[in-house]
Amino acid sequence: MSILESIHELKESRHAIILAHNYTEGPVQDVADFVGDSLELSRKAAACQAPVIVFCGVRFMAETAKILSPNSIVLHPAPDSGCLMADMVNAAAINAYRQKHPNTIVVAYINTTAETKTAVDICCTSGNAEKVIASIPADKSILFLPDGNLGRNIAAKLNRPMEFWPGCCPIHDGVTTETIHQAKLQHPDAEIIVHPECRPEVVAMADTALSTGGMLTHVKESGCSEFIIGTEAGILHRMRQENPQKQFYPLSPTPICHDMKKVTLESILSCLQNLEPRVELDEETIRLARRPIDAMLQI
Ligand code: 13P
Ligand code: SF4
Repeated sequence: MSILESIHELKESRHAIILAHNYTEGPVQDVADFVGDSLELSRKAAACQAPVIVFCGVRFMAETAKILSPNSIVLHPAPDSGCLMADMVNAAAINAYRQKHPNTIVVAYINTTAETKTAVDICCTSGNAEKVIASIPADKSILFLPDGNLGRNIAAKLNRPMEFWPGCCPIHDGVTTETIHQAKLQHPDAEIIVHPECRPEVVAMADTALSTGGMLTHVKESGCSEFIIGTEAGILHRMRQENPQKQFYPLSPTPICHDMKKVTLESILSCLQNLEPRVELDEETIRLARRPIDAMLQI
């Protein structure tokens, strides 16, 4: 039996659902029941009620699935795949900030650990950050964490002053204006799409800045037939699959998140065979971390 057949057979017998982020390896995306961005995956995890969820992505995403489906067994095939940005903040540091700024609303990008989420007021993803910030009354001060680039990009778009945590995604922060300039020279007719985790000066050079899910919708609907893609390379798999008649050009150097590549078909199969490794969070962490996620999902 092939590895794909074994995964499908075990998936059926375990009544499992496989969720995968848009940055995972192509074969992982192809075996998944649902592939999406952070917001789409959070919604799916909250709604699916599957007894077993195999989460293919980085650790904070698997934790979010566990928080939203606490009665499910959530399996994470790559338990050592963290998010470099998520590790740039923690609950103790937020609580210290709150002591000095007691009336500030703390908005956390979903790219944070469950422990960090216990200390914040509301979450957002790159797909809904503008809506979340716009929902906060204008007279309230906001601390946006941990992604200073995403925060600055939204603040500029909404003309809303905010405080920013000194964090970033090193993969997206590494995209420079020169990289975009070179890509433009090579593909002058292509539309430029970047992720809002890129620096504001990079976003300013792009035609649009979107979440990975937003990018996939946009390229499908756009009348343009060529695109320069300013985000992690894994997204190109679905873009090319769903739009075989269009051209997609990665940046050079191409942004790669190595943590997103740690899930393999072998590790998915092993998870389904052994029902391990699981995401385990204590009840109090789930209760406290769920509040800001629920606040976000209600918007
Ligand atoms: P999306 O929610 O846009 O998929 O982004 C997740 C992420 O980790 C970007 O680096
Ligand atoms: Fe985290 Fe950046 Fe990787 Fe996204 S691309 S998971 S923000 S390190």
